Amino acid sequence: MADKKSVELLPPPVHVGIIMDGNGRWAKKRGLPRKFGHREGAKTFKTITRHAETLGIKYLTYYAFSTENWRRPQDEVDALMDLFDKYLDEFDSFIKDEVRIRFIGDRSGFSQHLRDKMKQKEDISAHFTKLNLIIAANYGGRDEITHAARSLAEDVKAGKLEPSDISEELLQSRLYTGPDIPSVDLIIRPSGELRLSNFLIWQSAYAEYYFNNILWPDFSKKDLEDAVAAYRTRNRRFGGV
Ligand code: IPE
Ligand code: IPE
Ligand code: MG
Repeated sequence: MADKKSVELLPPPVHVGIIMDGNGRWAKKRGLPRKFGHREGAKTFKTITRHAETLGIKYLTYYAFSTENWRRPQDEVDALMDLFDKYLDEFDSFIKDEVRIRFIGDRSGFSQHLRDKMKQKEDISAHFTKLNLIIAANYGGRDEITHAARSLAEDVKAGKLEPSDISEELLQSRLYTGPDIPSVDLIIRPSGELRLSNFLIWQSAYAEYYFNNILWPDFSKKDLEDAVAAYRTRNRRFGGV
């Protein structure tokens, strides 16, 4: 524009985190058991992942099951584990499209069968770079930081590390996200809840947030576009001016 300084938009976010929330309420509204909401939410996961790639997103992390979600009734936990098992097979269609799959969280909570499947999907997609799809399963940010602290303490005890060697970078490299997954730029939480619920608490130190009232099974491609568009208008200062 000639006389008006045009607003500079940010490039699309490199790393987006999504808290898939509202499945239970979606089912309740329809008089269905909560597990039907999870099933529907899993379909949304596929649609949104496919769309994210077209928007230029490189890392996409989904909160699928938290360290606190074991508190739910056993039948709901069982339904979620069954769904996870089924979806692990469906990841093959992403892998065919050169999507790299990784899981973050404490795997010791899962059955050996699920653990083997998770490792298999990671191994066969390890060299792909088209999109990094990261699933947070039995994930908790506090658990992740505790786990990293323990790993550093073990190295100090073994004489491999001096306490003064411990930097932000070193601690970060011991998180489940490892040394290469970048900090999250944008966190999206639908369903009207305005909290992180222990998701990526270290990695989100300078994240931008986007909330809406849509229940996750109803979350559309347009909602993802709206979140990205809102992000691009933000002014990220990182403590500077
Ligand atoms: C999110 O939906 C899915 C998981 C936590 C696994 P919820 O099950 O939390 O749905 P609401 O929040 O009860 O509606
Ligand atoms: C966060 O949602 C966890 C996942 C989406 C996997 P919750 O529904 O468990 O969070 P709270 O309990 O409302 O904070
Ligand atoms: Mg919820």
